[in-house]
Amino acid sequence: MGSLTETNPSLWVRTTGPAPIHGPLGHDITVDVAVVGAGLAGLTAARLLAADGATVAVLDAGPICAGVTGYTTAKVTSLHSLKYASLRSSFGAERAAGYAAANEAAIRKITELAHSDGIDCELEPAAAFTYTCEADQVASIEEEVDAATQAGLLASFTTDTELPYDVLAAIRVDDQAQFHPRMFCLGLAEAIIGAGGSVYERTRALELDGRTVVTDRGRVTSDAVVVTTHIPFVDTGGYFGRMEPKRSYALAAQVRGERPRGMYISVEQPTRSVRSTASGWLVISGEGHKVGHDDDTRQRYEALEAWTTEHFDTEPIEHRWSAQDYSPADGLPFIGRLPGHEGAFVATGFGKWGMTNGVVSAMILNDLVQGRANPWEAVFDATRVALKQSAKGVVSENVDVAKRFVGDRLAGLRAPDADELAPGDGGIVTLDGDTVAAFRDEDGTLHPLSPTCTHLGCRVSFNTAERSWDCPCHGSRFDLDGHVIQGPATKDLLPKGL
Ligand SMILES: Cc1cc2nc3c(=O)[nH]c(=O)nc-3n(C[C@H](O)[C@H](O)[C@H](O)COP(=O)(O)OP(=O)(O)OC[C@H]3O[C@@H](n4cnc5c(N)ncnc54)[C@H](O)[C@@H]3O)c2cc1C
Ligand code: FES
Repeated sequence: MGSLTETNPSLWVRTTGPAPIHGPLGHDITVDVAVVGAGLAGLTAARLLAADGATVAVLDAGPICAGVTGYTTAKVTSLHSLKYASLRSSFGAERAAGYAAANEAAIRKITELAHSDGIDCELEPAAAFTYTCEADQVASIEEEVDAATQAGLLASFTTDTELPYDVLAAIRVDDQAQFHPRMFCLGLAEAIIGAGGSVYERTRALELDGRTVVTDRGRVTSDAVVVTTHIPFVDTGGYFGRMEPKRSYALAAQVRGERPRGMYISVEQPTRSVRSTASGWLVISGEGHKVGHDDDTRQRYEALEAWTTEHFDTEPIEHRWSAQDYSPADGLPFIGRLPGHEGAFVATGFGKWGMTNGVVSAMILNDLVQGRANPWEAVFDATRVALKQSAKGVVSENVDVAKRFVGDRLAGLRAPDADELAPGDGGIVTLDGDTVAAFRDEDGTLHPLSPTCTHLGCRVSFNTAERSWDCPCHGSRFDLDGHVIQGPATKDLLPKGL
């Protein structure tokens, strides 16, 4: 269950140990607020709710902070690539300014919580940069400097970086931060328990029955439910069709000599992201692509490794990991009331910028649960309908999903025979006349499963690097035995032929 089954644990998970710390829910309980999903968004929300006097129960299907938060790169910044020019053009300058103010407040909140709760999480100040090495991207950097400044950030244009190659243009924002995300989240969990709350691991939410969360370990009845499962496990908001799951890759090696102190991300593709940690790790990430749309994901690690060794002087690479995040078609996260469920709240669609947006969610949802106004509620409104500006993205994404649904079944007619799978390989094959998702282990034993995703029925793809079955439609992932690693699916892949 949960990310215990990830093939490649991240630097953050390895250095804190992935074993569950808290027991599962053992019986039905009643609390003020049930928080479902213990990543950065859920744990921060629970921490703020507990501090405001609510009795809180936090539930997670896996170990806590071992979802995307355990597999991120953990730059804590309001500078989100070229976000502000895009938001200004789609939503106007005022909404872009609201996004900036909320994200800046999140950086301050993380610092405040780390200090007040005494969390040792390698938190340190850092400048953030979005840069380009390509002449035809310089204008986009200049536009972003203008938009970010108009949104209220202290942004400046520069060509001066610590990167070991020439940068033609960069936007710089100071007073941002970086940290060890799992150490921070484990500290939050302790603070929640210290404030009288409870945390349950290996407890999967299956459905919402009014304000009661029905799990595989019992029922949690509450006055309010906060859904922070990355992508919601109940989707009355139609978020599946309005966001795209994107997978990215990361690696870490000890730096030889001086480490870069800034946090960098390129505009050009494939994206290159660079940061370091207080304990001397250089963390490089990039190679993003749509989930389930890559024939051999192992090549992504190889490309990142080749680029790192070409540009940086490091010890051998010790950690490799990958993860996925959801990008909303209109560019804004969905934070607020969950449509169709009185008393339920949701936060999703952080577009690979969830360190700050996760904490923005926590602040907004805490206020909404407590019945207070929040200055950014309207900026992120989870009940908004698709804007005209985003319609193209939504439509093209849904066409893609439809193609996977119908096209994959036709493709199944041509599936190769299972005998063709070599040890260590997986794929959609034909076995005894059935189309199955099968993996052949190193001993030659075949592990066949139904290829049909238990969420809405798309056909899963084999992820060669992580040895998982990934659904290209909405990003559900399953391990080699068919167990759910990541939602929105809540049910395992069926054994072969069912
Ligand atoms: C490679 C990569 C690099 C990134 N780098 C950055 C960065 O530098 N800066 C930044 O700001 N953002 C970054 N992001 C984005 C950021 O990491 C995420 O947006 C953020 O971690 C999401 O947090 P979350 O709490 O919403 O989700 P998660 O951390 O995934 O937490 C959700 C939890 O819900 C649990 N869950 C799921 N379904 C159920 C269920 N049915 N019942 C119970 N529990 C359930 C899961 O087990 C999980 O623990 C990056 C993302 C990726 C993929
Ligand atoms: S059909 Fe939605 S995640 Fe697979």
